[in-house]
Amino acid sequence: MLNNIEYNFDEKVNRKNTNCAKWDGLDRYFGYGDLNPLWVADMDFKTPNFINDEIIKAAKNASYGYSIDSDDLYNSIINWQKNQHNWNINKEDIYMINGVVPAYSACIEAFSEEGDEIIVQMPVYPPLFKSITANNRKIVVNELINNNDYYTMNLKDLEAKITSKTKILALCSPHNPVGRVWNKEELEKLANICIKHNIIIISDEIHSDVTFKKFTPLASISEEIANQTITLNSAGKTFNIAGLNCAYAISKNIELLNGFKKIAQKREIQSINFFGYIATKAAYENGADFVEQLKEYLLKNMQFTKNYFEKNCNNITFVQPEATYLLWLNFKDTNLSHEEIKNVLLCKSKIALNDGVSFGSNGNKYFRLNCALSKNGLEIALNQIVKEFR
Ligand SMILES: Cc1ncc(COP(=O)(O)O)c(C=O)c1O
Repeated sequence: MLNNIEYNFDEKVNRKNTNCAKWDGLDRYFGYGDLNPLWVADMDFKTPNFINDEIIKAAKNASYGYSIDSDDLYNSIINWQKNQHNWNINKEDIYMINGVVPAYSACIEAFSEEGDEIIVQMPVYPPLFKSITANNRKIVVNELINNNDYYTMNLKDLEAKITSKTKILALCSPHNPVGRVWNKEELEKLANICIKHNIIIISDEIHSDVTFKKFTPLASISEEIANQTITLNSAGKTFNIAGLNCAYAISKNIELLNGFKKIAQKREIQSINFFGYIATKAAYENGADFVEQLKEYLLKNMQFTKNYFEKNCNNITFVQPEATYLLWLNFKDTNLSHEEIKNVLLCKSKIALNDGVSFGSNGNKYFRLNCALSKNGLEIALNQIVKEFR
């Protein structure tokens, strides 16, 4: 523990009327303002003081002009990747950008032409496929294999779908929403197919720190795989600083990184929020113990949720995720249609979850629940759900 600090994840944080998308965006996104929000992938926990104190210190100086990156920031990223994931990267492999999603979109422009094909493994975080059509490229769907809600890659299908127009594979690692931490063997097999067909891999590793089994950064596996890969990451999910818009791209392939930089500069996404740098550096310099305690708390919340459904409403099930605080709930045993489930959640349970269908194919009768909130708050929400489904 950092100075023996015990983080209090039970503390209730007021997020209402704070321009908070999760809490204040309910009416806009769901048509009801009175829902209990367990949707957007951020946390209802306090951002830890080792970050907050740095932000307050900077704010006390009362000067918010344009900011610039520093060696300390790069060192914090380099050390974090080394210490957490045993990945050796250098300053020249990193490029700072204002978000993983804007960077992903820039990668699409950098590494493919209009009309080219990009493979996505569905169901998946929606911007990873929406951005493809927004950039006038074609989505190639490679559905994950669902074995009783434990998902694996369908590499046979993936390879069969590759044509001369296939230029990019969008990898979500760990995977949102199905919660898989892809193991080294799975990643190697996937990467070898991409190398064989000269397909660039964009590896979105934003969920890599909240992992409950060993996470392997794709580009850490071998030089050859690193050469084929651009990785996108940020401290946003792990430390609840997503609203500060600070992220980074990593590639060991200088040509790839330069190609990406060119488009990032064209799109003006390389200019970072003043507080983003400060928070990211503070998070990576001091955050290891926080992450350990966070994961412990999340695991308990997940176990609690599992027991709660089993005991009170066994027609809602999920497989415990290997990463993230997102539970991919299966409502198939309710024998209701997807629309009926959605209506019950919104109109009776009064709960905002992410609609499984919004994650592309294979999301029918699934809803994503974010369990990064106090146990007490979680229990209230679960009670609201099971009351209407048992
Ligand atoms: C897989 C994945 N990538 C990217 C993002 C968003 O990244 P950013 O806020 O840095 O654009 C999210 C947020 O939920 C996510 O789940």
